[in-house]
Amino acid sequence: MQAKITAIGTYAPEKVIDNHYFETFLDTSDEWIRSRTGIVERRFSAENEYTSDLSIGAVKDLALRYNKDISDVDFILVATVTHDQIMPSMACQLQHRLNIPNAAALDISAACAGFGYGITLARSLIHSGMYRKVLVIGAETLTKVTDFTDRTSCILFGDGAGALLIEAAEKGNVGECIAGAEGSGGQDLYLSTLSTQVNGTPIQANNKIVQNGRAVFRWAVTRMAEAFEAIVEKNGLTKEDIDWFIPHSANMRIIEAICQRVGFPVEKSLESLSKYGNTSSASIPLALNEGIRAGKVKKGDKLLLLGFGGGLTYAGTVVEWGL
Ligand code: UT7
Repeated sequence: MQAKITAIGTYAPEKVIDNHYFETFLDTSDEWIRSRTGIVERRFSAENEYTSDLSIGAVKDLALRYNKDISDVDFILVATVTHDQIMPSMACQLQHRLNIPNAAALDISAACAGFGYGITLARSLIHSGMYRKVLVIGAETLTKVTDFTDRTSCILFGDGAGALLIEAAEKGNVGECIAGAEGSGGQDLYLSTLSTQVNGTPIQANNKIVQNGRAVFRWAVTRMAEAFEAIVEKNGLTKEDIDWFIPHSANMRIIEAICQRVGFPVEKSLESLSKYGNTSSASIPLALNEGIRAGKVKKGDKLLLLGFGGGLTYAGTVVEWGL
């Protein structure tokens, strides 16, 4: 059997925060944030609203819009770095709260590449013949682990969630995947809890996101241009075959630079950062769903999805959109 995406859903908290909010307590400006990142606004979760709640919002959106029964899902994968708790896993909590009694449940820790890893694993589980109906969720409440004293990072992050239902089918639409890591760059982007070192390098353990923005920027531009080309080649395609490029939405300048390196028109990329900021594992489904709702993504379009982020990690694939 092959893997076919049969539904998508997204959710974002109600509270909209524009760039001017940061001008009230930081030396920054709407102009700097817009021109350096492309971010216009983002969503903040409420104090008592957690990643599990956002995930449920996304799955309900998926089930309602596509009239899908999800009670027989047999595997739940949740990509996140902002679990309500590490144990029990987010996937176990969702299995209970969504009343999916027979599903295996597993969290994925691959930061902003988490959704790409989730699709890769879901495809493998289905192609192996062991599972038939997999729910892949990317959900984050990054603003709960944002260091609001660090102007270089706090202006970037937002909260949101996205979900895909991937089912076994005679003819699938999830192409060959790539997934990789460069653990040597771990200290350039971390969220520390217990240990005070990454790769032997001392770090702060304050349960906040710390990022060496320039280093991650450089890595993303060079390595993700190569990853784009690797995905296209692995699927026996050329870049001209791709209708929409949907990379992780971290920074519009990164997306532009990847497109320029690859020789792909940036107008054929979709982003979620202008409206939602950097939502890590949720950014790709948010961008895809915005593209669908805006009537840009159409049945039969070839989409190149590519996540990248902390770890450092990356994962992507080509999907022939079928909804
Ligand atoms: O999602 C996971 C993956 N993460 C990423 O892909 C993020 C990658 N990195 C980035 O997106 C960018 O590096 C940032 C948006 C984080 C920063 O943009 P940049 O163009 O790389 O800025 P920079 O760090 O080179 O800083 C340029 C200047 C500095 O001032 P000086 O040293 O030139 O005087 C910063 O202090 O901009 C200053 N600056 C700010 N100024 C106003 C940094 N943050 C701000 C700010 N407002 N918020």
